[in-house]
Amino acid sequence: MNIDIITIFPDMVGAILGESIMKRAAESGQVNFRVVNLRDFTHDTHRTTDDRPYGGGPGMVMKPEPIFEAVESLRGDNTTVILTTPQGERFSQPAAGELTGHSHLVFICGHYEGVDERVREALVDREFSIGDYVLTNGVLPAAVIADAVVRLIPGVLGGEGATDEESFGEGLLEYPHYTRPPEFRGMKVPEVLSSGDHGRIARWRREQAEARTRERRPDLWERYDRLRRDGRE
Ligand SMILES: C[S@@+](CC[C@H](N)C(=O)[O-])C[C@H]1O[C@@H](n2cnc3c(N)ncnc32)[C@H](O)[C@@H]1O
Repeated sequence: MNIDIITIFPDMVGAILGESIMKRAAESGQVNFRVVNLRDFTHDTHRTTDDRPYGGGPGMVMKPEPIFEAVESLRGDNTTVILTTPQGERFSQPAAGELTGHSHLVFICGHYEGVDERVREALVDREFSIGDYVLTNGVLPAAVIADAVVRLIPGVLGGEGATDEESFGEGLLEYPHYTRPPEFRGMKVPEVLSSGDHGRIARWRREQAEARTRERRPDLWERYDRLRRDGRE
């Protein structure tokens, strides 16, 4: 998979995607990250990427010309252009899974008040928000989305099954995890986990995952419970 990130803060991206599992995925050729400096597509001495908003008001708006040039220089036959924006579709685990089926993602990272609307109208295939809050620029959202997508590419996490049971995979939050020691400051690991009885362990984990989801995320629980009931009918 090819992932291009267009930003005026190229150094921010390297710091995030140049470590740990993302770094390994890039080194092994499972993903190819390219960080594109938007200022390389400007033609004035100040390398201007923003301007005042028409109609007045506070802040600055990112100009369309460099963004169009940058995207057009990167776009191939199978490119999906993603705009990071608090106004987009809420990014989710199912969306991450769906994006793994795309071979080339280009992220546009906004800054200031956001990007000129003509970018959205003419260039963008998908718009994603990473949550109902406003960040200063789109690098973190692009990196969040890229990380969630790349770790789902088969082989990136090593153990192929590692993502099967985790939170949101089946519409539930994941069960709790424990490791050694068996007792720490008076807190014991649940007995069932060292019983060696795989059936009991699986049942316990399922019950924990369901209880957690019911308690912490009634929205997820309602959907899961409805699907489960429909499945039984
Ligand atoms: C300060 S924000 C602009 C917010 C915009 N004025 C609005 O009210 O919708 C600057 C940039 O950060 C990114 N951004 C901020 N919050 C985001 C979020 N929750 N999800 C995705 N991108 C976000 C976008 O790229 C956005 O263009």
